[in-house]
Amino acid sequence: MIICSGLSKNFAGTQALDDISLQVRRGDIFGLVGPDGAGKTTLIRTICGLMKPDKGEVRLLGCPPGAQDKIRSALGYMPQRFSLYGDLTVMENIIFFGSMYGMSKKVIIERAEEILTITGMNSFQGRLADKLSGGMKQKLALTSALITRPEILILDEPTYGVDPGSRKEFWKILYQLNQEGLTILVSTPYMDEAELCRQVAFINAGRIKAIDSPTGLRQAFGHQVLELCLDSRDPAILNDIPGLLDISFYGYKYKVVVDNVLSAAEIIKQHLQQKGIDLISMRVVSPNMEDVFVALAEEEVAKWNMQ
Ligand SMILES: Nc1ncnc2c1ncn2[C@@H]1O[C@H](COP(=O)(O)OP(=O)(O)O)[C@@H](O)[C@H]1O
Ligand SMILES: [Mg+2]
Repeated sequence: MIICSGLSKNFAGTQALDDISLQVRRGDIFGLVGPDGAGKTTLIRTICGLMKPDKGEVRLLGCPPGAQDKIRSALGYMPQRFSLYGDLTVMENIIFFGSMYGMSKKVIIERAEEILTITGMNSFQGRLADKLSGGMKQKLALTSALITRPEILILDEPTYGVDPGSRKEFWKILYQLNQEGLTILVSTPYMDEAELCRQVAFINAGRIKAIDSPTGLRQAFGHQVLELCLDSRDPAILNDIPGLLDISFYGYKYKVVVDNVLSAAEIIKQHLQQKGIDLISMRVVSPNMEDVFVALAEEEVAKWNMQ
């Protein structure tokens, strides 16, 4: 559905995209996951044909490169900063958006009602956009992006700054749309959302660090994770223990990344004993996407240091 080959883009010395190649297949929920400034928006704008790459090409729906304009209505795009008219109602906003695609008012309203039912917004048709909550504004933007019944939906950080409950709800809607046949490309800085995608491309500093399913990424992780509860709330308490690759503290538990859980567990116990701190519990947990991403980012730092 989407094939990017060797995309590069430079902005006055900043390499926003550095030789990006990826493929989104029909029926995918494909996540572009990476921190702020990684290049997600630049990549999405290039895929949508809103920006020209310095190098490389994009093919959408089997069309030749650069033909995005010809398949505009097959492409639903929800930009990172979408604009709604605050003094228009939900339905008026959708009608305005749909009419830009030359759709008749009757067809727009029919389709809008269908989509607003899926997004749970039907009873808010007459509400002014300004009076919507953050989560509802995102849903209205989503409805507008779907009005042409696109085959591919491209969303740039649709849940940024939205409360956790609304984020969950938004993802449920994406799953439902995907089940109905929509191919989805979505960018996010949230690692927990990476777990919800079928394919994930980790992107950092304009480069793809890994592409795989969440399960595949976890399997390739190559380290193990221990979760500890201690009779301590000191975030630095484990810092001087040798052999711990990464330590994170979550207020009541610690997570450490190690190469060998058995020997690490022994060393941790000894150190805590010496410090007189009780180990309440220790267990092996499966790595989450954040662990995987941190490890990939650190590999990169290590490579740089060796150069
Ligand atoms: N129009 C632009 N002019 C100059 N620099 C830009 C422009 N757009 C993006 N950048 C730079 O390119 C990099 C990638 O940005 P962006 O694609 O917006 O990342 P993300 O969406 O992952 O936060 C950043 O360093 C950003 O400052
Ligand atoms: Mg962005």
